[in-house]
Amino acid sequence: MFKLSRHLHSAISPTNNKIAPLADPKGPLPADYPLPKPEYFELTNAVSTVCFEKPRDMLDWYPGPMIGAQAIGRNIMSSSKYVNRAVELLSVLTPDDYSDYMSRYYLEGKRRFGEAWGYADIVTTVLGLTDMIKPKRYLEIGVRRGRSACAVVSRALDCELALFDMWVENYAGMDNPGPEFVREELKRVGHKGKVEFINGNSHQTLPAYFQSNPDVTFDMITVDGDHTNVGAAQDLADVLPRVSIGGVVIFDDVCHPKLLGLGEVWRRQVVEDRRFSAWTYSDVGYGVGFAIRKI
Ligand SMILES: C[S@@+](CC[C@H](N)C(=O)[O-])C[C@H]1O[C@@H](n2cnc3c(N)ncnc32)[C@H](O)[C@@H]1O
Repeated sequence: MFKLSRHLHSAISPTNNKIAPLADPKGPLPADYPLPKPEYFELTNAVSTVCFEKPRDMLDWYPGPMIGAQAIGRNIMSSSKYVNRAVELLSVLTPDDYSDYMSRYYLEGKRRFGEAWGYADIVTTVLGLTDMIKPKRYLEIGVRRGRSACAVVSRALDCELALFDMWVENYAGMDNPGPEFVREELKRVGHKGKVEFINGNSHQTLPAYFQSNPDVTFDMITVDGDHTNVGAAQDLADVLPRVSIGGVVIFDDVCHPKLLGLGEVWRRQVVEDRRFSAWTYSDVGYGVGFAIRKI
């Protein structure tokens, strides 16, 4: 039907001697360093919440979504609505040191800067996008305790989930309890839809999953797993063709102080691609980007 991009993966893999691996896999990304490219195929389905449905006897003059990433981003940032929702969400989930820190950060930002704070992160962004898109199917690479997945299902209770993680022990100095813990967290926010955990290294599990599900596409996809430049670029290359028309892809950590190439990975893989309308927040915190698929 259509070929997946596994040969591209091996062509640029750091374990393949043809291309020298980056000295620091999470350091700055040289502009000419080759990245894996997505293999797109034609899609006909579209997310009905954001796409115009033409009368049957008319031409489709303006295909794709009726709203772009700039307008959606403005909406997410224009008030403290999604910061409030993030605080609410974290109060329902099982706390850890990082979520305690986040809750304090949100409350202090609101206290100091009020409605004009203009702050965004993966949680506020995912909450805002879910309200707009109302996803029926969500894929996530990098789940850990289920915070971003719970942000989605807290606003889309019936959403079907495909959750990819290799459950790296002591991830970034934090615990990573695994699928059963995440299942319980999803219940806390009232999730009623199907959930599938795909455990293992995303560079193996994603191609295998798409090979078994050749036609599957998703309304929302978050890429927050492998944080090396090439690994994150590979995850993007694997999932971008699976974003429905009018669907969104979210990418975390575009200005993380220890992940110096991810902003460039995001720019080259998505922002520069005319298939997408992209929005990037890289002011403070770790930054986040999202893009809505137009064609
Ligand atoms: C930053 S955490 C995800 C955080 C989550 N999205 C949230 O918002 O709370 C990254 C996760 O990616 C997983 N991970 C890292 N490399 C991976 C890989 N190659 N394949 C699958 N999962 C991976 C880690 O086990 C970890 O749970």
